[in-house]
Amino acid sequence: MCGIVGFVGNEQAAPILLDGLARLEYRGYDSAGIAVVSQNRELQVKKAKGRLQVLSDIIQGGKSVEGTLGIGHTRWATHGEPNDVNAHPHLSGDGKIAVVHNGIIENYVELRDFLVSQGYEFKSETDTEVVTQLLAYYYAECGDIFETVFKVIRRVEGAYALGIICADCPDRFIAARKDAPLLIGHGEGCNFIASDVTAIIKHTRDISYMDDGEVAVITADGVQVYNSMEQPIEKEHSYIDWDVSAAEKGGYAHFMLKEIMEQPEAIRKTAFSRIRDNRIFFEDLKIDEAYIKNIDKIFIIACGSSYHVGVVGKYNLERMLRKPVEVCLASEFRYSNPLVDEKSLVIVISQSGETLDTMAALREAKSLGAHILSIVNVVGSSIARESDDVLYTWAGPEIAVATTKAYSTQLVLLNMLGLYFGDILGTVSAKEYSEIIDELLRLPAKMEQMLENTDDIKYYASAYFNHSSVFFIGRNLDYAMGLEGSLKLKEISYIHSEAYASGELKHGTISLIEDGTLVIALGTYAPLFDKAMSNVVEVQARGADVLALTTDSHAAEMRKTVENVMTVPQSHTIFQPSLGVVPLQLFAYYVALMRGCDIDKPRNLAKSVTVE
Ligand code: M6R
Repeated sequence: MCGIVGFVGNEQAAPILLDGLARLEYRGYDSAGIAVVSQNRELQVKKAKGRLQVLSDIIQGGKSVEGTLGIGHTRWATHGEPNDVNAHPHLSGDGKIAVVHNGIIENYVELRDFLVSQGYEFKSETDTEVVTQLLAYYYAECGDIFETVFKVIRRVEGAYALGIICADCPDRFIAARKDAPLLIGHGEGCNFIASDVTAIIKHTRDISYMDDGEVAVITADGVQVYNSMEQPIEKEHSYIDWDVSAAEKGGYAHFMLKEIMEQPEAIRKTAFSRIRDNRIFFEDLKIDEAYIKNIDKIFIIACGSSYHVGVVGKYNLERMLRKPVEVCLASEFRYSNPLVDEKSLVIVISQSGETLDTMAALREAKSLGAHILSIVNVVGSSIARESDDVLYTWAGPEIAVATTKAYSTQLVLLNMLGLYFGDILGTVSAKEYSEIIDELLRLPAKMEQMLENTDDIKYYASAYFNHSSVFFIGRNLDYAMGLEGSLKLKEISYIHSEAYASGELKHGTISLIEDGTLVIALGTYAPLFDKAMSNVVEVQARGADVLALTTDSHAAEMRKTVENVMTVPQSHTIFQPSLGVVPLQLFAYYVALMRGCDIDKPRNLAKSVTVE
C-alpha cells in the first residue's frame, strides 16, 4: 500500500527520499515520486509510473534535484490508473503546495465539485489532488500553512496520512494523520516522517507514532505535534531495537525464502521468552481471571493469512476451552451488526497492525464493550495501540508481501493463549498442559530439520508448476492449513487455487476435478487420516494428480495410494499445522520461482492494506 517518507535536514533530500522509498517498496506500489523545495523556494516534483528505478534514473539517483527538504511516495492505485499523472506528489495549481497521501478521501467528489465551482482545475483522477487544491484554496485565503492544514482536515472525510510541503516555507513540512499509519523519526539536525520504520531506520531509531487527528510541524531542528484542538502536545518516544540487517535479504534470493527460513528462530523468540519452568507467562496481559472466567464467546477477527491463523485457532481454542469461537473476516464483521458484548473476548490478529478493515472491526467490537486482545507483529502500530491488551509476535520485520514467519508466530502465540486460558478455566488438564509445552519447546527444532533439505519440495514444484488449477483438500486442521497453503500459492504464482474441506467436495466442487487437475491432499490431522485417504481415492478416481502431505508416521500408509508424498514430523495435534504449512509455503515459493514471478512483490498486492 502507499508509502510515505519525508526528510528535512542539512543533506540533500532526494537521495535520502529515494533510499527510504526503496525500503518501502515491499509494501506494494505501481508508481513513485518525490517533491523537493529548492533554495530559491521552488517546488520540484518528479514522478514516474513503474518501478522506483525508473524515477531514480530520471533524477540521476537524486543528484539532479537540489534541496534539503522533501517528501516522497510510492503509490498503490485506488482512484485512477497507475500513471505518471496520478502518481504522487500532487502539486497545487499555483505550484506552491505539494502533497503525498496514503488512504482514501471519501468525500472527494463533493470537494472536487466545490473546488471546480471556485475555478480550480484538476489534472489527475485521484482523491489526493482534491486535498492539494483544497490546501491551495485555504492557503490563498489565510497565508498560513499550519492553519490551512487544520482547515483542510476538518473538511475531508476518510483516511489519510499526509506529507505536505509549501514553497513559501522552505524550512518545514507538515504531517497529518487519521486512520493511516505515519510516524516521526527524530534525528540529529534532521527529522523524518515515514509510513513505517524500515524507511528511516538507517538514519534514526528514535520514533514517535502519530495518532489520529494529530498534525506535526517538522523542521531540521525540531518537531512539534498538535492535537486535533490545535494544542501543542508532547509525544512519547520509542526506541527501535531491531537490527537493520533483519530488513535485508542476507544472501537469500528473496525475502520470502529468508523469512521461511527464519521461522524456527521467530517461534523461539515469540514463544520461549514467555515460558519459564514449563509454564506460560503473559506478564503484560491486563485481562484478569474474573473476565476470562466470565467470557461466553470468543471472536477472532482478521484478514487474509491472519484470518487463516484464526481458522486454525477456532479448532484449537474450542477444543482447549470448550467455549464457542467465531472467526470473522474483518471486512465482513464491521458491517454485520455483530453480537458482541461485555462478555465477549475479541482476539484481533494482524502482522502489520495497520490493516484498515481489521482496525475498523476492532473499533466496532470495542464500542460494543468487548475486551480487545490483539496479536500484532509491528510494535507501536495502530491496532496495538488501540487494543486493551497486546501480545507481540517477535517475528522481526516481514518484508515479503506473502506472509510466512508472521503467520507461524501468530499461530504459536494463539495456541499459547488458548493453553493459558485453558489452564485458568481448568479445561486443560495438567498432563495435557505439560505435553503441549513439551511439544512447543520441540517445535522450532523440528521445523529446522524440515528446512535443512527442501529438495523433495523443489522436485514436486518442478513437476507441477505448469498446472493452471489446484485444489487443497483436507479436514479439520488440515482444511484450516489448506486455506493458507492455497493463498500462498495463488498470491505469488498466480495459479488459480482453492482450499476445500474434503467432505464438502461431493456437494458440488468435485465436478471440477478432471484428468490432470492437481489436488494437494492434506493428511496430517491424525484423528481423520482414514477419511483423508477416502477423499484421496475419490479424486484419483476422477483423474486428479495427487500430491499428498502427511506426517512421518502416516507416510507409509499414504504411499500405498499416492506416489508423490511430502512429509512432516509428527507433533501434538494443535501444532501439526505449524509444521504442515512449511512445505506448502516452500511449494508455493518454488512454483512461483519456476514461473518467473516477482515473488516478493506479487502483482496487485500490498503488504499492508490501509484502505478499505
Ligand atoms: O497485516 P495483516 O496481518 O493485518 O494483513 C492481513 C492480510 O492482508 C495479510 O495476511 C495477507 O493476506 C498476506 N500478506 C498474504 O500473504
